[in-house]
This record gives sequence, C-alpha cells and structure tokens, in this order.
Amino acid sequence: MAIRSVSELVEQGFKVIEKEIMGCTDCQLHETVTNRVISKGSTSPKVVFVGEAPGKNEDESGIPFCGRAGKNLDGMIEYMGLSVDDYAVINTIKCRPPKNRNPLKCEINACKPFLQAQIELLGPKVIILLGNTAEKAFCNGEKLDWGVPRPVDGKYTLLKIYHPAALIYQRSRIEEQNSLIDNNRHLWE
Ligand code: URA
Repeated sequence: MAIRSVSELVEQGFKVIEKEIMGCTDCQLHETVTNRVISKGSTSPKVVFVGEAPGKNEDESGIPFCGRAGKNLDGMIEYMGLSVDDYAVINTIKCRPPKNRNPLKCEINACKPFLQAQIELLGPKVIILLGNTAEKAFCNGEKLDWGVPRPVDGKYTLLKIYHPAALIYQRSRIEEQNSLIDNNRHLWE
C-alpha cells in the first residue's frame, strides 16, 4: 500500500521515498512519464535547490537539471561558492508534464508529501526556491519577494530567486540574479 504521510515517509528514509515515488500513480503524469526524477547531490546539505519539474532531458535520464537549465544552475552554484557536499537539487514535482507545461495545482499537491519528506530528511539551513512553482509548494498562495529571505519557524530560510531556465533567454537577468545571491551570502557562508 502506498505511504503518503510525511512522517511515515521520513521515518522510513530515502530508499522508501524513492520506491514510493517510483510506484506513484497519484496524478495523471504517471501515464506519460519515462523516468521519475528524484534528486541529486548531498544527503546532508546546507542548501537545497528546488526546481519546477523535469524537462525532456531529465525525463530521459532520470537526473535533475541535466540539460541547458542545469548548466545555468551549475554556474549559479559556482557563483555561490558551494562545494559538492554543500547542496542538493530536487524538483517540486517528480514527473515531466507533457510539452513542459506548467505543473497543475493538483499535480503539485499530489507530489507534496514527497517534497516535504525529502526536505525533512535533507534538513537544509536554506531552501532556494527556483521560481514560482517551487514557491507555490512552500508558501500556500503567498508571494515572496525575489531575493528577500524568509525564515520559517526556526527550521530553515526560504529564498526565492530566478529559475535558471529564465536566464537562458534573458542574459541580462544573470547580473540581477548575481546581486540577489550577493545580498544573501550570509545565509550559507
Ligand atoms: N527545470 C526544472 O525545474 N527542473 C529540472 O530538473 C530541469 C529543468
């Protein structure tokens, strides 16, 4: 039987979360997915980056941010001065929406227990929300300002910055993104 309570998932650990994601049929995306995309990076990171959803490359490989947006994310991580042990990368939803459309609210909600359990087990100080979809999963309809940190219950700090894919076509945004990062270095340094 599927485990969907966050506390049970956390108790059972990463392997069971992975198994549950692999077998999940809680939204329509399981009908079109090739590979479910779970995470990459450290299992005890200071910083967790939360993307939107797998794209074509990620659906083919099962690895988050392995395409063009991933190159920009790597550049951001380097600019932040993080080493491989310092960070992990996950997505708001684990299955690719057809034609890369935005995830639906019901899809975000179906995947939320996995996201919450991943965050609890990873236990980061800082959660970087890469754009609006990740914000939806964490902020219950409230909008955060770009680059303005939001501490949450003494557990972690949320920081919303631009999604790396938004930097592909708007190169001018890179400087803006870098200044959002510069203003917040104290969070992870
Ligand atoms: N965009 C995302 O939000 N996540 C990925 O894994 C790839 C592209």
